[in-house]
Amino acid sequence: MPKKRAYLQNKKLNHLAEGVVHNFNNLLSVIVSRATLLKTKVEDSHILSDLNIIQKAAQEASHVLRRLQKPRSKKSHVFGKKEWINLNELLSEVIEMTDPHFKNAIRLSLQFGMIPKIFVWATALREVFMNIILNAVDALSQNKEGVIIVQTEVQGKHLKISISDNGIGMSEATVKQLFKPYFTTKGQRGTGLGLMASYDIIQKHKGVLEVQSTPGMGATFIISLPLPKNCTQKKLQKIPVTAKRIMLVDDEKDYRESTAEFLSLEGYEVEQAQDAQEALQKLNHQKFDLILSDVKMPKLSGCELAQHVKSRHKGTKIILISGFGEPLNHTKMKALNIDGWLQKPCLFEDIAEVIRKTCH
Ligand SMILES: Nc1ncnc2c1ncn2[C@@H]1O[C@H](COP(=O)(O)OP(=O)(O)OP(=O)(O)O)[C@@H](O)[C@H]1O
Ligand SMILES: [Mg+2]
Repeated sequence: MPKKRAYLQNKKLNHLAEGVVHNFNNLLSVIVSRATLLKTKVEDSHILSDLNIIQKAAQEASHVLRRLQKPRSKKSHVFGKKEWINLNELLSEVIEMTDPHFKNAIRLSLQFGMIPKIFVWATALREVFMNIILNAVDALSQNKEGVIIVQTEVQGKHLKISISDNGIGMSEATVKQLFKPYFTTKGQRGTGLGLMASYDIIQKHKGVLEVQSTPGMGATFIISLPLPKNCTQKKLQKIPVTAKRIMLVDDEKDYRESTAEFLSLEGYEVEQAQDAQEALQKLNHQKFDLILSDVKMPKLSGCELAQHVKSRHKGTKIILISGFGEPLNHTKMKALNIDGWLQKPCLFEDIAEVIRKTCH
């Protein structure tokens, strides 16, 4: 293409991008301000937490947009401030943000290793992980037993993050084009800029982004980031090997809250539900590794919840806690097909032990 035409086309594109960014930013500020306003009007902790996510996601989106104005900028200041963070925490946040996109058929396996904090552009990395995870979700849209595995580990002088799916996979020709701008197989739904931007961001971190894939056999995206120079094995921050997601269902608020606190301290990600109906609602749009539920509850019992979980959410395990009035004999346990049970009153250590046996 003659130089002058290319220059004019580039100018036009920049102009167009600026207009889109401007309008989009206006819309995002409406979302941020409405979410902020709503936060002052509600008290329910679940709604507040959802609103925080909406607010944060919209703010992130506006940072991302700012970069669209300078897509090829060599300057890293467009990524915002660098900070020390633990990538396991950042990945958990991204998973929470992308959660509504997960269909029931997708199982998520988090295999977080012991990793140190590193000094990174967190907003930019969040965008990388979000794009790779959403690409995996798209690749799994036809798969009835979709799995996404997110792994982190220290390997030599690098921190390795790998995100795999067992989706449609890619041909060699597709892999070759992956990081090119505007390459997409999603038609109107994709811009084809996600992986190009991700590649750029990882390069700015002096890291490497690699892909392994076979058509029909899924894909694995591997990111290697350099560890801080003085990082020794001893300095690695201790965090649980797997951050399992547990939903605790009990109508007794005090008991539920103290048990939830204990489980959080044990390193689990804990969600609470005050009855089986609330639990079922959460199960519709969130993934859990385990449900820990009381048996006797108003409206729907723990046993009924167990039956529902076993028929609809195959990857989710369930442990029931029964009170004095409703002992669970072996016949009943077998009929319910539950993974474990406890008798009230039970010590926190007993709960931790049954969970370890069931989940690890
Ligand atoms: N996990 C995956 N499995 C199969 N194909 C993938 C996977 N990840 C990416 N791709 C392919 O790479 C293409 C480019 O991905 P990229 O993230 O850059 O853009 P996109 O997802 O199409 O659009 P967007 O800009 O909205 O992210 C996708 O359209 C898809 O064909
Ligand atoms: Mg994408």
